[in-house]
Amino acid sequence: MPLSVHFHDQRPQAAGRSLREEVLAGFAERPKTTPPKLFYDRRGSELFEQICRQPEYYPTRTEELILAHAAHDIAEIAGQDASLVELGSGASRKVRLLLEAMHPASYLGIDISEDFLRTSTQRLAADYPWLEVHAACADFSRPMSLPDGFGGEHPLAFFPGSSIGNFDPEEAQAFLANLHELLPEGGGLLIGVDLLKDREVLEAAYNDRAGVTAAFNLNLLERIRRELDSDIEPGTFVHRAFFNQADSRIEMHLVSDRAQDVEIEGERFHFTAGESLHTENSYKYSAESFRALAGRAGFCALALWTDPQALFSVHYLQRA
Ligand code: AVJ
Repeated sequence: MPLSVHFHDQRPQAAGRSLREEVLAGFAERPKTTPPKLFYDRRGSELFEQICRQPEYYPTRTEELILAHAAHDIAEIAGQDASLVELGSGASRKVRLLLEAMHPASYLGIDISEDFLRTSTQRLAADYPWLEVHAACADFSRPMSLPDGFGGEHPLAFFPGSSIGNFDPEEAQAFLANLHELLPEGGGLLIGVDLLKDREVLEAAYNDRAGVTAAFNLNLLERIRRELDSDIEPGTFVHRAFFNQADSRIEMHLVSDRAQDVEIEGERFHFTAGESLHTENSYKYSAESFRALAGRAGFCALALWTDPQALFSVHYLQRA
């Protein structure tokens, strides 16, 4: 089974910044901030999976529902000789819906986490013996190319989950412009984007009653304690998530419940009572505003699907 996956190492020469560097740099900023990728250690990834099953967190199940309904239309637009390129993930039910509808000759999974990538692509290879499975270990937020030996001439890139929402709009446009470079003319991009909606619904999704999102946010501090030399006490911070209407984004923060000094790797950082560490932005778009953004990156819109309540959108874009 393991032999059936074609593995391509495309990691950038200069490895990304370490946890230590990211945390020290972020805590020195005003306001203090950390990049959302720091959430995803093993525990954080487990908690994220749990978030996706919370009743208030509508994006995952809604996107799955949309894809289940749209899969055959998607396959038709992609055409007979399409291949599928998935950015991130690889283990999800979503990509399986597409594989089963499209029956592409080849699949390429791209992920920065080698362990996760190997496991998920091997599982796909085992479950779909007719599929040629490729895995590229790469940072797709940077410019990259399709690996040699990946045969797909009509690739459809798949970027589910509204992961694009973690980028601010300028970064999102730059990311789409990178994908534009990656794809040949006529190549497609199927992308899931969370929609703007009532504040109550948005805020509930990031403040679930079971407290899973709070645990996910606080795990960042647990992780700093586990992996770095630090006396930071997660119990002295509280989870806060709210919709920032002016910037069209959910913001997540960890708020210090007291004035305190925390030490990380020999550096001391002061928090005033109520001061926050800004841990995540999750941008929300209207169908039109996302189309306009994609247009500025060189994509034209071929199709758009939403659910009956217009909670979530899936855009089919084409490299113009
Ligand atoms: C993975 C970025 C799409 O923004 O909804 C979920 C991450 N954070 N709950 C999102 C997340 C808190 C998620 N994305």
